[in-house]
Amino acid sequence: MFGAIDHIGVAVDDLDAAIALYEGTYQMELVHREVVEEQGVEAVLLDVGESHVELLAPLGADTPVGKFLERKGPGLHHVAYRVDDVASELVRLKAEGFRLIDETPRIGIRGSSVGFLHPASTGFVLTELVTPAEGH
Ligand code: CO
Repeated sequence: MFGAIDHIGVAVDDLDAAIALYEGTYQMELVHREVVEEQGVEAVLLDVGESHVELLAPLGADTPVGKFLERKGPGLHHVAYRVDDVASELVRLKAEGFRLIDETPRIGIRGSSVGFLHPASTGFVLTELVTPAEGH
């Protein structure tokens, strides 16, 4: 079961400019910054209520977010729903015939457990499931 919108992911080509907008102008608290090598991004989390905005800047052109920027330019990249257990949700959705990008969970930002669903099965909204690490 999807519990809440954990975050929206926003692809940016200028991380500092995006931080100026979200932290400076929107006055969201910047709570985390991390290079996630596995996903080819430098990512920033900002708090908005009990949810987050995740800013994603690619580490190179040949990364998923780099290719996204090349194709579509900066903007909304994905929606992430909070679930109790990513692994069992992936199993359940696969059994329902969903196409998955991740068959098993991987480590996401801030030690979270994440899995991406394929846009072909989600009405072309790139969708992430996330179980935050203990304490987040
Ligand atoms: Co995300």
